[in-house]
Amino acid sequence: MNEIISDSHRRLIVVSNRAPYSFRKNGIKIKPIKTIGGLVSALEPAIMNHKGAWVAWDASSKSQKSGSVFSLPPGDPHYKFYPVPLSHSEISGFYYGFSNSVLWPLMHYFTDNLDIQIAERRAYSRVNNRYADIVMKIANPDDFIWIQDYQLGLMPGIIRHQLPKSRIGSFWHIPFPNVDVFNILPGAKGFLEAMLGADRIGFHIPGYVNNFLESVHELTKHEVDFDTGVVRLKDRTVQVGAWPVSVDFRSIENEAARAIKSGRTQTIRKKMSADKLIISIDRLDYTKGIPERLYAIDRFFLKRPGFRGKVSFLIVTAPSRSHVGSYIDLKKRIDGIVGEINGKYSQLGWTPIHYFYKGLSFKDVLNLYLASDIALITPLIDGMNLVAKEYVAAQIDNTGILILSERTGAAKELKEAIQVNPYDVENVVDAITESLRMSKREERKRMTALRNRVKAWDIHRWSSAFLSGQEATFDT
Ligand code: G6P
Repeated sequence: MNEIISDSHRRLIVVSNRAPYSFRKNGIKIKPIKTIGGLVSALEPAIMNHKGAWVAWDASSKSQKSGSVFSLPPGDPHYKFYPVPLSHSEISGFYYGFSNSVLWPLMHYFTDNLDIQIAERRAYSRVNNRYADIVMKIANPDDFIWIQDYQLGLMPGIIRHQLPKSRIGSFWHIPFPNVDVFNILPGAKGFLEAMLGADRIGFHIPGYVNNFLESVHELTKHEVDFDTGVVRLKDRTVQVGAWPVSVDFRSIENEAARAIKSGRTQTIRKKMSADKLIISIDRLDYTKGIPERLYAIDRFFLKRPGFRGKVSFLIVTAPSRSHVGSYIDLKKRIDGIVGEINGKYSQLGWTPIHYFYKGLSFKDVLNLYLASDIALITPLIDGMNLVAKEYVAAQIDNTGILILSERTGAAKELKEAIQVNPYDVENVVDAITESLRMSKREERKRMTALRNRVKAWDIHRWSSAFLSGQEATFDT
């Protein structure tokens, strides 16, 4: 236990696929621009407290000379950033290939979308080794090395092999499937052994922890204690537990207050010409249930014609992994369904679906959260879903209704949301109708409770709890 507690006092080395900053060339200077997203806001405060280092692929490619180092944040440097240079063919094999055409679909139970190629498996392993080489150059024996997500699944084992005494944590940000599905992965056992190179492995919810332990139990010879989440190896133990990732509640609240003052949300509202606005924001991904949601919207306008002309949906999809075939096909499908629905129900001066296919700044996203009455978040499966938590954090006046897929990690915490089965179109139609008819009193009661939950387990709590080894508790 002492050893676990002392991890929060060690220097921290964060390793992730995505970098905390992108680097834009400004004349002869290179200007770092902070990446928007959960991971950076989660880990930057932690790394700043620990005077550590961050190792990641810099996809903006301006810093990719081998051996370059940056002091970050700009103007107030507290940690070093070490970019991992990747060639085009490595990006194709490691990122588009094994990470996003094999691991991503498999972990989300989309076994039809698997595209398993040996060259890409090798690229994945080579890139994991490349990351590990950099970490091993900069790590001191006392550092805590915290590896993020499925793109770097082999790294704990590689580092353990070379630095047997190091302290390693790994956090898996996506679901972990049951053993029958996980076992489809070629080399599943070796993959697990590599993950077990860590001293502590975090997942968002107990369900993923159990799936992982079950896989270790069935596919390896290690002893597994399901009650405590401890895996016993020959010479050490691994702690496996649930730490649901969260958002920076305070900073979103502050930004929301500023956004309301600016009056921008009112302007958006006027432009939409509908009494009620329902928002959905996702990366364009087949796990997000976008076509199924559109079918529900179609059915909603069919079954409840009284809402035509009064309710509009604002669907924002951010372009993502657009070189992978399944993402290209999905984009076409969504374009087609949106066109059909709008063609069918539009009236002069009213559009059922306002559809955007673009990445927005967080400020714009926040304005949309605040301009809307309801958030409709219906992934078919999602490790966590931070949009749901961001939406809640932004509702500083305690109004707003969250309709949330029960198949997200977030649903295990956000009990006061209207929870739906995203595959069940009638269920989603009923939830939309219920939320449009909900009393203000009920709306406030639910949103206040949701906000208290996100506030109590915010992003800072997530990182400090993981580093101290103290797991989250979940209501039953
Ligand atoms: C998920 C993953 C992250 C990933 C993000 C965006 O949330 O867990 O690791 O960074 O999707 O995907 P991308 O492929 O653009 O990094």
